[in-house]
Amino acid sequence: MKLTTAGESHGKALVAIIEGLPAHLHLDMEKTNETLALRQSGFGRGARQKIETDRAEILTGVRNGETLGSPVTLCIYNKDFANWESCTSPNACDEAEMQKKRVTRVRPGHADLTGVLKFEQTDARNILERASARETAIRVAAGGVYKQYLSALGIQIGGFVKEICGIKDGGRYAFNELERAKTTQTGMLDGEAEARAIEKITALKKDGDTAGGVVEIRVKGLKSGFGSVMTYAEKLDGMLAQGLQSIQAVKGVQFGVGFAVGSQSGKEVHDEIFYDESRGYYRETNRAGGIEGGMSNGEEIVISVAMKPIPTLMKGLQTVDIQTKEKAVAASERSDVCAIFALEIIAEAVVAQVLADAVDKRLGGDTMAQVRARYDALP
Ligand SMILES: Cc1cc2nc3c(=O)[nH]c(=O)nc-3n(C[C@H](O)[C@H](O)[C@H](O)COP(=O)(O)O)c2cc1C
Repeated sequence: MKLTTAGESHGKALVAIIEGLPAHLHLDMEKTNETLALRQSGFGRGARQKIETDRAEILTGVRNGETLGSPVTLCIYNKDFANWESCTSPNACDEAEMQKKRVTRVRPGHADLTGVLKFEQTDARNILERASARETAIRVAAGGVYKQYLSALGIQIGGFVKEICGIKDGGRYAFNELERAKTTQTGMLDGEAEARAIEKITALKKDGDTAGGVVEIRVKGLKSGFGSVMTYAEKLDGMLAQGLQSIQAVKGVQFGVGFAVGSQSGKEVHDEIFYDESRGYYRETNRAGGIEGGMSNGEEIVISVAMKPIPTLMKGLQTVDIQTKEKAVAASERSDVCAIFALEIIAEAVVAQVLADAVDKRLGGDTMAQVRARYDALP
């Protein structure tokens, strides 16, 4: 299943084309639109979210609420385009407006400087419009489609925020408790940690500073054997890491106990295997995070994803103006202080994309009934 996304932050629209969906997948776009609203929320988001009310529209591949088997095209119109058209239109732009919106005080932590040099630009706007995490809106919309494909097979994805700028929610939560994270202000489940995180974000904002954090994403109901040990490119953890690492501002992805493997012994890290007539093979622990040898092993998949602090600081960092080559304070457009709640939503969408692709690779199928029958027939 191939996903292509396109669109600039202040352009007319964001689009996604999904190839390879089987026919007869029932799509409820209201569910997807609810998830898009969640991507826009969370404590610490900036003013852009007040302008947009993201809604995904289906342009192709669906009739009467069901996929046809043809490419599905999704579209989200950027409301803010109305305020930017003279500067970002694909047709002739207003020179004065372009000059006004030109970005030359390139921002550390952004694609600005490297992108300008690589694509031989003199205005970092030609880079940042695409680098912006606005692109994740359409990935979340596509994720909504993939989630409905997986859900038809009984595969569910959830998660919560487990750290914001050093403040940890160290709780160990059952899968069915995770849904509540979507109703909190920060995505944390522990109220005491959430209160401290809100205090921290508020103080950082006052100081012109920003926060990052860590989310945990979990997958329930994925049977064993998805991904493959046989080629490096098909390893499930490799594919998940690639997808998650491609999200703007993500700086680390770990499976199960992750980096703790470096400080613990073999006895502490590996999950022993047991057998029981009624349960079949099972493990008492899940430190591997549900993946061994690049394949799902039937346990819950557990992934942690680390996001760096938002790189646009209202009290801008030091940089160089690429026009004058002189020392400057980095440009700062309206910006988030903390977007970790949104990251949790985006990471779920990306995990759904990768898993749907892995399911399709193994099971194929022209119709949802075929996919379901093949999935149900697996042990
Ligand atoms: C949901 C989300 C919202 C973001 N919001 C902002 C923002 O408002 N301002 C900003 O400077 N960076 C923001 N970022 C991060 C940048 O897009 C990202 O750091 C930048 O494009 C450079 O990419 P890299 O960090 O992956 O190297 C956001 C990222 C995500 C995932």
